[in-house]
Amino acid sequence: MEDKEKQYQLLLKQAQALVDGETNLIANMSNLSSLIHFTFGFWWTGFYFVDGKQLVLGPFQGPLACTRIPYGKGVCGTAWAQGKTLVVPDVEQFPGHIACSSESRSEIVVPIFKDGEMWAELDIDSKELNTFDEIDKKWLEQIVKVLTAAS
Ligand code: SME
Repeated sequence: MEDKEKQYQLLLKQAQALVDGETNLIANMSNLSSLIHFTFGFWWTGFYFVDGKQLVLGPFQGPLACTRIPYGKGVCGTAWAQGKTLVVPDVEQFPGHIACSSESRSEIVVPIFKDGEMWAELDIDSKELNTFDEIDKKWLEQIVKVLTAAS
């Protein structure tokens, strides 16, 4: 547990350094997804943008993913509808989970806000059950803020 806190402390500093002086969102999201993905060895790490009543795929690391997800559908669309981070210990137990990859076992989706409006999400999938907890939630919510602050 303590190790994960330390990893995230460093990760937040790295994320801040990475976006420092760069306002291009695609560049920052690309590098941030890589940083998170390879720090922890996740299965899929990436972003979705709000596009009307759907989410559309943004920069990511990992296998092919669903290009569009409707509002309220899957873990991503539900996190959007609820306006809060969702931690899913076992994706098979989540009603309506969208299986972009059959290898995915657990997931966390973190909405990203600007002026109170969600404009994007960070989505991370793991090949193991129960990968994500309150520590991931707390730190990832901080880390995604660097994107909004930089743009
Ligand atoms: N599993 C997600 C879809 C996105 S992929 O995992 C990359 C969902 O249920 O919304």
